Amino acid sequence: MTYEKQKCWSILLRLYHWSFALSIVFLVATGIYINFPWSNTLQLGTGSFPVAWVRYVHFVAGYVFTAAVLARIFLYIFGNAQERITDCLPISGRNIRNLIKTLLQYSYISDEHDERLGHNVLAGCTYIITIIAAVFQLVSGFFMLFPEAHIWQSWGVTLFGNQQEARFIHHLLMWWFLIFAVIHIYLVIWNDVNGPEGLVSSIFTGDKFKHKKA
Ligand code: HEM
Ligand code: HEM
Repeated sequence: MTYEKQKCWSILLRLYHWSFALSIVFLVATGIYINFPWSNTLQLGTGSFPVAWVRYVHFVAGYVFTAAVLARIFLYIFGNAQERITDCLPISGRNIRNLIKTLLQYSYISDEHDERLGHNVLAGCTYIITIIAAVFQLVSGFFMLFPEAHIWQSWGVTLFGNQQEARFIHHLLMWWFLIFAVIHIYLVIWNDVNGPEGLVSSIFTGDKFKHKKA
């Protein structure tokens, strides 16, 4: 059986993926510390300023995260055929069949791997939910950071009511990103082992391997 290399992900999608993933590692680590600054009393009187530093890292990572989310929204509309939102949703016969085949394969009922260049539709839908969660995360974050700026105040009050609710939702959403990351890394490795396309390397190189048509 012969395979050929096919271009799948643009450079912008790969840059977005890695800035999103890395910023989330920093955001979760610093967010947990902001929630429970355990070392603070140990540092009292030493002249160091751990909470302020950790908050600063959180905000810098927050800007990287926001830029990544904006890049992804741009690609949902203007990206290549695999990156557009229409390729991710079960809104065509081809996509609905892919969703059913993926569910059967993931539950070990069938071992048929659906040949397709972009995401499978189950993954595509989960990524869209993650980006929607990311929008709520960044609006609640900027609402906490700039509570008096008119734009963040109006969005924050409309979506969350008040700062305390925004902080609570911000905290709960952290768990989505944490749980998503664990399942995501498991599934991309599972697919890499079970499929021929070289999935993990595709997020570095942008290329996937597909059966060569005779
Ligand atoms: C996946 C992304 C993010 C995660 C997992 C995350 C996580 C957290 C957590 C766990 C907290 C502590 C809340 C608590 O007390 O329980 C927090 C606080 C905060 N986050 Fe985020 N965050 C994220 C994105 C952002 C973004 C994009 C911004 C915007 C700049 C932001 C700004 C803030 C602010 C202002 C606080 C409050 C800091 C304080 O009160 O000292 N966060 N974050
Ligand atoms: C070792 C770490 C990681 C590897 C090897 C990896 C690999 C991949 C691969 C291969 C894809 C494409 C999958 C497909 O075609 O369906 C992908 C997509 C994605 N990954 Fe990761 N990933 C990693 C970490 C993370 C983390 C920590 C996050 C965020 C919590 C993340 C978020 C995403 C998202 C949102 C997409 C969808 C891209 C899009 O919007 O089109 N990844 N990842």
